Amino acid sequence: MTSIALYRRYRPQSFEDVLGQEHVTETLQTSIREGRIGHAYLFSGSRGTGKTSTARILAKALNCEKGPTPNPCNVCDTCVAITEGSSLDVIEIDAASHGGVDDVRELRENALLAPAIARKKIYIVDEAHMVSTQGWNAFLKTVEEPPEHVIFVFATTEPHRVLPTILSRCQRFDFRRISSATIAEHLARVAKEEGIEADEGALQLIARSAEGGVRDALSTLDQLAAAGSVTVQDAARLLGSSTGDLMFEFADALATGDTGAAVQRIAQLVEEGHDLRVFARQVVEHLRALLLTKHVAEPGDLIDATDETRARLAAQADGFSGAKLLHALRAFVDAMSEMRQQAAPRLSVELAVVRVTMPEADDSAASAIARIERLERVLEVQRSGEQPPPAATKAPAPEPVAKPEPTPSKSTKRAKTTTKPAAEKAEEKKAPPEPNTAAGLVDLEMVRRSWPVVLEEVRQKSRKLHALLGDAGVQSFDGRVITVEVRFAIHGDMVTEQKNAALIADAVQSVFGISPVVRAVVSARAEEPAEGLDAIDDTSADPLDVLKSGFGDDIVEE
Ligand SMILES: Nc1ncnc2c1ncn2[C@@H]1O[C@H](COP(=O)(O)OP(=O)(O)O)[C@@H](O)[C@H]1O
Ligand SMILES: [Mg+2]
Ligand SMILES: [Zn+2]
Repeated sequence: MTSIALYRRYRPQSFEDVLGQEHVTETLQTSIREGRIGHAYLFSGSRGTGKTSTARILAKALNCEKGPTPNPCNVCDTCVAITEGSSLDVIEIDAASHGGVDDVRELRENALLAPAIARKKIYIVDEAHMVSTQGWNAFLKTVEEPPEHVIFVFATTEPHRVLPTILSRCQRFDFRRISSATIAEHLARVAKEEGIEADEGALQLIARSAEGGVRDALSTLDQLAAAGSVTVQDAARLLGSSTGDLMFEFADALATGDTGAAVQRIAQLVEEGHDLRVFARQVVEHLRALLLTKHVAEPGDLIDATDETRARLAAQADGFSGAKLLHALRAFVDAMSEMRQQAAPRLSVELAVVRVTMPEADDSAASAIARIERLERVLEVQRSGEQPPPAATKAPAPEPVAKPEPTPSKSTKRAKTTTKPAAEKAEEKKAPPEPNTAAGLVDLEMVRRSWPVVLEEVRQKSRKLHALLGDAGVQSFDGRVITVEVRFAIHGDMVTEQKNAALIADAVQSVFGISPVVRAVVSARAEEPAEGLDAIDDTSADPLDVLKSGFGDDIVEE
């Protein structure tokens, strides 16, 4: 093998060689055939998708001695000079290093001169988003009224950073990511030609991790080939798991509420020296793609992804409710902006994870999302015409004293005394609670899980009552009566005072859509933690220890 990198050696030299961009190349060929050539083009797309190659082919097509032609000959002096990069009339500028105003001024003057040999003078401005604002302003006049012999091709990975007045004067072509099947085929062809022995599986792995970029795929093949043969094991070792896979795994953890897996992943990234700011942005991008996939029928160019990735996105989006996705996106956008302001990126990302995977721990958006999700369930039941079971038949209303909690290990020492259910009496004087569609759908477990959300609702109304409830958990719920477990009898009396019981019932109503009767029991195990925090206590991975301290203890006395 020679030492020229594969990706340079296999640069497409005719429009037909450009993989996966037929929507661009065929349009260009037609306009050349019909003599309708623009003065300014914008080629946008991620790296290694063929922008520069296509710009050079266009230059050849226009300047070929046998042209202008949609099929440049590649053998005439002009074509050869362009291929070799020695043509005086095809000028490539890297805006990353030459995007300043002086560079552009020089270019502008130069552009006025007629081409040296060829028909057209073609400026290929690479990384066009790096042109400075002043640079663009210097460009503007030339792009607005270009000399007859001048054509500009601006290539960029970030079209939104190109000055809008320039954009509006360009004919725009969006280069797509190339499917991994196409890339794998291409790699196989190159390997064969180069006499590189390569497993098909390895090539597929390389193609997939290139995420639509041919250049990266060829570079990886190059690297592996230099080390000997190209096997699946070698490829896997070199590539690790790609960013794409990582994002899918991470989002899976968010979807299933696997706090441990998500936080572990963050720990691993930190250990490997990744920039969590970059990670957070990638997560936001991934969630955005999921959201668009879920809600937009034909997202098209709104999502920058290969077809396989789109299919994976669709499958993953199914695992999220719309509300949860939106909530997750919010959480990570917040994390990003937090990170911009202060210096604890890890904590910001971990907090975002907890907000998403334990909505109960989040006091704002979560209560909304919990409500929406429950509402969605209620609506679903109504739509399917299924009658939710009447609340009363779900479980007989237990007398807290007579029937302690069924959990064997805890039940024996659980309830000691019952305070008189004053609220119940008050409640019963009113009309019986109207048959409630939501009631049959809400069970003890659900109430416990979202109890912190209820407490937060209470806090909004009365800090005193919130403080009083403190770490009170839910002892039982039968669809109608909710029994709160408090530490001291006096607290129980206060909780069931009519005013307070009504406040709690309202909070439950706003979260679950049901209006329960509130009772209280005094806990026999005052030293044990409240129910709401159990979920957090279960995971004692140390990052969570840090996080834990941020929740639950924000009681402020009035
Ligand atoms: N669409 C494509 N078809 C075939 N090869 C490609 C394609 N896109 C990129 N390549 C490979 O990657 C190299 C760099 O491509 P280039 O056109 O410079 O990409 P870009 O300008 O979009 O970053 C090419 O020399 C070629 O080997
Ligand atoms: Mg390029
Ligand atoms: Zn030619």
